[in-house]
Amino acid sequence: MNQHLRPEPLPFIDIAAQRRRLGKSIDEAVERVLAHCQFINGPEVAQLEAELAAFSGARHVVTCASGTDALRMVLMAKGVGRGDAVLCPSFTFCATGEAVALTGATPVLVDVDETTFNMDANSLQRGIATATRLGLKPKAVMPVDLFGQSADHDPIGRIAEAEGLFVLDDAAQAFGAGYKGRRLGSFGLATATSFFPAKPLGCFGDGGAIFTDDAELAATLRSIRVHGQGLDKYDNVRLGLTGRLDTLQAAILIEKLKIFEHEIEARNEVAERYARGLGNVVTVPRLAAGCTSVWAQYTIRLPKGCDRDGFAAALKAQGVPSAIYYPKSMHQQTAYRDFPAADGGLPVSENLSSDVISLPMHAYLDEATQARIIEAVRGAVGT
Ligand SMILES: Cc1ncc(COP(=O)(O)O)c(C=O)c1O
Repeated sequence: MNQHLRPEPLPFIDIAAQRRRLGKSIDEAVERVLAHCQFINGPEVAQLEAELAAFSGARHVVTCASGTDALRMVLMAKGVGRGDAVLCPSFTFCATGEAVALTGATPVLVDVDETTFNMDANSLQRGIATATRLGLKPKAVMPVDLFGQSADHDPIGRIAEAEGLFVLDDAAQAFGAGYKGRRLGSFGLATATSFFPAKPLGCFGDGGAIFTDDAELAATLRSIRVHGQGLDKYDNVRLGLTGRLDTLQAAILIEKLKIFEHEIEARNEVAERYARGLGNVVTVPRLAAGCTSVWAQYTIRLPKGCDRDGFAAALKAQGVPSAIYYPKSMHQQTAYRDFPAADGGLPVSENLSSDVISLPMHAYLDEATQARIIEAVRGAVGT
């Protein structure tokens, strides 16, 4: 009988390879926490916050339970609520707009740039006008540094300043990336990130952090993450959340942060190899001037007429996984379609949702494995 050997499936993100590289260091870090038993607010939490501040250049870092909480806590601290508008890109993970809607405010969805997939400054300007026309009070802008690449923070910052809005940067996918020589974490009023395991810097569960240079905001965030606690533990002075990062996750992140710089370099090498191998058959991602990326995803655009499902199936047959981030922009999703979109529509977001697809990307993708992926992609284009 003719036996067809199916190629061994590759991982999309190889978390096990990182575990092997880190050896026993994570096990030992976890054991230290198990020994001291300070599972909430143990010493590793403050240590991690200090190390993240040094890494990012932000004055204050407040860790928290997830990237979604990080966004939501800043909005809560600034009193954003009913009647307010927060401008968000539509082509993003839903948590960006969700954090806004959970405060009672209205996410106003704007379009993104064709090349970088990040917030388009012209659409932002139109979105602010749309919000005002609808009787909403524009309060904040939330650019997203999508797929690991920094958004274009200067023009966004200028518009925000002219309109009296604060900027909350959603860097859930891009901690470690830079803009014009500075690491993300100090653009706008505050930056939020996520330590979800699949993120470039991920823990072994949920986690997040907020970066800010504003001491008063940092103090409010520290109160919000513990139910709005005041100076007296039992006098809660505002509404808050159970929003803390577990000590165990902090201990894990301290170990991972030690190799993060190397991993960012490795991810950039992987991205360069993809660009060389695929640049003439699909649209490969490009970095805008002044922007760097930590390559949370390597997202290509398929040529016109190439059937995306067929393409994914052809890759799968070669053992190559792929994922679609995002098959629907926020304004196309059931929970968000009634929120306003910027006048002029969101055509770029809609086009991207129909033709993007992401390839395996992680710091441990060796050349031979990547050559196999590249060959599979080249073969699948046109299927
Ligand atoms: C752009 C963006 N914002 C926010 C979040 C929320 O982060 P978390 O899953 O840690 O709540 C994510 C997570 O995937 C994200 O990609």
